[in-house]
Order: sequence, then C-alpha cells, then structure tokens
Amino acid sequence: MKILVLNGPNLNMLGNREPDIYGRDSLEQLEKNLHELCQQEKVEVDLFQSNYEGALLDELHNATKKGYAGIIMNPGAFTHYSIALRDGIAAIDLPVIEVHISNVHAREEFRSKSVTAPVSIGQITGLGLYGYELALLALKQYIQGRG
Ligand code: DQA
Repeated sequence: MKILVLNGPNLNMLGNREPDIYGRDSLEQLEKNLHELCQQEKVEVDLFQSNYEGALLDELHNATKKGYAGIIMNPGAFTHYSIALRDGIAAIDLPVIEVHISNVHAREEFRSKSVTAPVSIGQITGLGLYGYELALLALKQYIQGRG
C-alpha cells in the first residue's frame, strides 16, 4: 500500500515558522517519523510539499496512476479558501484525510472554516506532527476496510 502526504504553502518553513504554534520539528523530521511508522506498518509513503496550488492539484490528479491508495493532506492556508483544491479532491476516487498541526478551531475565526474537509473522509487538527501518524493509521484501516 502506497500513501501520499501532501503539504501546502509555508509548510517547508516548519521548525522555523511560528514555533509556538507549529513546534520546532522540521518537515525532514516529519518525513523521518512517517518513514519509521511506515516500516512498522508495512506501508510505503512519499511526501510532497509545494507553495503552489497548481502543483498540489497536479499531485492530486496523478495520484491514482502513480499507484497511491490514499492521501494525507495539509493544505495550509489553502484549506480556508481554495475551491480548486476542494474540487481536485472531489475529482479523484481516493480517500483523503486532512491534517492540521495547530488547532484551527482555537485560532482566528477564518481558520475554523475548511472548504476541503467536506470532501475528505476526516480531519485531524491540533495534535502537532503526531496528527500525520494518526492519519496514516486511520487511512490504512480505511483502505483495508474498503478493499
Ligand atoms: C495549518 C493551519 C492553517 O490555518 C495555516 O494557514 C497553515 C498551517 C496547520 O497545519 O495548522 O499554514 O494548516
């Protein structure tokens, strides 16, 4: 089973970016954590980060033909307004779990609105980088249950 992890704008800055909110771990650390978990779980994982909406859309569109069984996505700020990403998720027949490192419901009001969550199978928010690991376990279960 192959899972794709998509991270949107500014998530390349993890570790340096507002550490009080997003913590001190980098994207490389996240990749390491996920690779460790995936070894135990016998799942393959690839990570992709972009600051560009179109690049994220291309990854969504190509995910099925690249053999991914599901996607974990942190769309960053696009979460709150990108109808294009929302439609991109809806256009593919792959389960997507949305992850946010911070608790989007405990911050500015505009962050509590997600246009992408309604087309995802679920959302994990506020549990730091651990949220990606939980999403991976949940996605694996979901895919196995569906198959
Ligand atoms: C975020 C929350 C978003 O509101 C913000 O724009 C981000 C990161 C999170 O992981 O907590 O870039 O998605």
